[in-house]
Amino acid sequence: MAKEKAREQWGSKIGFILAAAGSAIGLGNIWKFPYVTGQYGGAAFILVYLICIAIIGLPVLMGEVLIGRTTHKNPVGAFAKLTKSKFWMGIGGMGVVAGFIILSYYTVVAGWALGYVYEAIAGNFYSFSAPSSAGAHFNNLIGNPFWIVGYFALFMLLTMGIVFSGVRNGIEKGSKIMMPILFLLLIILVLRGVTLEGAAKGIKYFLHPDWSRISAESVLIAMGQAFFTLSLGMGAMLTYGSYMSEKDSIPGSALSIVTLDTLIALMAGLAIFTGVFAYNLKPDAGPGLIFHTLPVVFTRMPGGYIFSILFFILLSLAALTSTISLLEVIIAYFVDEKNWERKKAVLVFGGITFLLGIPSALSFNVMSGVKFFGFNFFDFVDFTAANILLPIGGFFISVFIAYYWGFKNALPELRKGAERLFEKYPVVITFWKIFIKYFAPVLIFFVFLNSVGLLKIIRELF
Ligand code: TRP
Repeated sequence: MAKEKAREQWGSKIGFILAAAGSAIGLGNIWKFPYVTGQYGGAAFILVYLICIAIIGLPVLMGEVLIGRTTHKNPVGAFAKLTKSKFWMGIGGMGVVAGFIILSYYTVVAGWALGYVYEAIAGNFYSFSAPSSAGAHFNNLIGNPFWIVGYFALFMLLTMGIVFSGVRNGIEKGSKIMMPILFLLLIILVLRGVTLEGAAKGIKYFLHPDWSRISAESVLIAMGQAFFTLSLGMGAMLTYGSYMSEKDSIPGSALSIVTLDTLIALMAGLAIFTGVFAYNLKPDAGPGLIFHTLPVVFTRMPGGYIFSILFFILLSLAALTSTISLLEVIIAYFVDEKNWERKKAVLVFGGITFLLGIPSALSFNVMSGVKFFGFNFFDFVDFTAANILLPIGGFFISVFIAYYWGFKNALPELRKGAERLFEKYPVVITFWKIFIKYFAPVLIFFVFLNSVGLLKIIRELF
């Protein structure tokens, strides 16, 4: 009992919302969302994505936070407290493992963002006349093992520094400082984008849906993106929810988190596509959009020097508020379950995750020839975590709530802090139940099938 009392809580509801929105808003919003939108059909893709966010993202987010707040535990401890079942504890354990894996390679990419803050300050964005020359510069940098491992190490140290100081003094305080800055930077960048000559084409691309580009594949990509961007499926939101007070409303907070995350993704897309279209560049460059195409935009744009610095600071901040949530899942597990002291756990497991990430960093240079099932190491761990572990985790979290723990137990917990909403809009509860019980498990199952390529096989059969 004494131990439970000592567990930290967020200082305020807004502290929780900013920290959780910080987890959600990351490379997924500013790097990935714009490029998948560019690849899968612009506005039509965005519409499908918004539907996925509303019918799967929001309900599953509420579910994860609910399990966390009910138990005040890490993912393994949470399932242990509710079930005593080894199977469900294993699902929680898979989340902690996914935390190690995602943190290890995500921080490598976060390191590029940090490295590009230096590139921007050094004025290296003035020499790129074409995406190919910017791309060559980028390949040169990531081809250097010292550059890539160095910035990776630096980013890991920043992450560890924040988590080291605890939930309230580290994560919450850090988020309260970083999130408003992030917002401000993005507003500045959107304003710059929409005032460029020729920006209208980019805006049009964003608003005019081309339905011919929508396919089963783009729907599944949209769903996977909705999941990743909200940090679902591995207990990150569960862990953040475990520091939440019963006085605060889960549906209300979840809606704020989803709204902020979506708003930031749309704003990032707007800032990027106005620039890309203003200079007649291609929106479908894929993962290279930010590092190949954008440097050319900054080279040509009036004030590009300043805006390139702001952009990569924005990207670094967004990534940092996400990496701290990934590390916190691991730390919460060792603190709750293994009685580790927080500071020691951060040093040890931050260090281990760094070592785990080195092969990912080296995939872009000395280890580029080493293949795992046809992938290089980085792509292999990215695929395993984002396309296999997260959908499995999300599937079982919704199945757990709807079919194992049951609404009979879940609803009284959900009601805490949301009494007024329950009274005024009981329909919210009905929708939540339907989405968690039917939509989420079925749709996530299809994302999973798609990920493992089974969908292709099935399609060939019929
Ligand atoms: N949501 C973050 C992004 O969009 C990434 C992230 C942080 C994440 N924590 C997570 C993804 C946990 C899945 C699970 O960049």
